[in-house]
Amino acid sequence: MNEASVPQTVPRPVLFVTGGSRGIGRALVLAAAQAGWDVGFTYVSQAQAAEDVLQQAAQQAPQARVKAWQLDVCDPAAVDRVADEVLAHFDGVNAVVPNAGVSVNGLAYSLSDSDWRRVIDTNLSGPFYVCRAFLPELVSRRKGRILLVSSIIADGASGQAAYAASKAGLLGLARSLAKEYGPKGITTNVVAPAYFETDMTRDTMSAGLVDYANRFCPLRRLGELDELAATMLFLLSDAAGYINGETVRVSGGLDWAP
Ligand SMILES: NC(=O)c1ccc[n+]([C@@H]2O[C@H](COP(=O)([O-])OP(=O)(O)OC[C@H]3O[C@@H](n4cnc5c(N)ncnc54)[C@H](OP(=O)(O)O)[C@@H]3O)[C@@H](O)[C@H]2O)c1
Repeated sequence: MNEASVPQTVPRPVLFVTGGSRGIGRALVLAAAQAGWDVGFTYVSQAQAAEDVLQQAAQQAPQARVKAWQLDVCDPAAVDRVADEVLAHFDGVNAVVPNAGVSVNGLAYSLSDSDWRRVIDTNLSGPFYVCRAFLPELVSRRKGRILLVSSIIADGASGQAAYAASKAGLLGLARSLAKEYGPKGITTNVVAPAYFETDMTRDTMSAGLVDYANRFCPLRRLGELDELAATMLFLLSDAAGYINGETVRVSGGLDWAP
């Protein structure tokens, strides 16, 4: 066999996802592993949930390298440390999805300082720290994907001032990164989901809000996590190479949160 006929193994691209232990992040980790990615993901406190994801990934995509790290995205030094470990473990990263987030319900007049800070630190500062930590790697490759996870609630929702402010902030962050790093071959986009059944929505959506979403969504249902993961994988793919600075709503057509 001469050298030209030796089959070349194409390296698997590497994805880093925060908050991959549950909900949307978990669905993305598993879909990406099955779609040919190696995946590093994080959890903050639910180590068993992260272990379950690792086991599922090993069953569903045995060829994928998948590894979990404990990380609080509110801690910029910890983000930098984990980024270094992820880059060393996988010998690089091609795409980053700072997905981890929290939601706290409360009318604005009664929102405590600590709840406001927790939501903004986790949902807005955290994604910034993560993007900042991985940008040198993506720039050095002259190709990369950043995908932020906002929400239709970025337009505002009653009882969700902190959450809406954090998710609206991500839109400005994404459009800035799109302009700053587009010239380096890195696209930055946003998904803005409506309502998907996860621990977050189970904990924070009232029965009335679930009823609203089911009745006023033109598709008359909440979203399925695999539908959202598929959209995210598309935005991370080479096929989405000319999409930059966009917000893609994955909402079944629901365009307003009460
Ligand atoms: N579900 C929806 O309908 C919906 C709609 C629009 C946008 N979103 C957004 O989608 C993202 C994921 O939401 P989800 O519904 O999947 O939530 P979820 O089921 O509650 O999962 C949250 C994930 O984030 C992690 N996390 C929480 N705080 C963290 C912190 N300080 N540092 C690092 N990781 C942290 C959790 O880790 P542990 O497992 O260790 O706790 C978990 O993996 C969030 O940004 C959310 O705002 C969700």
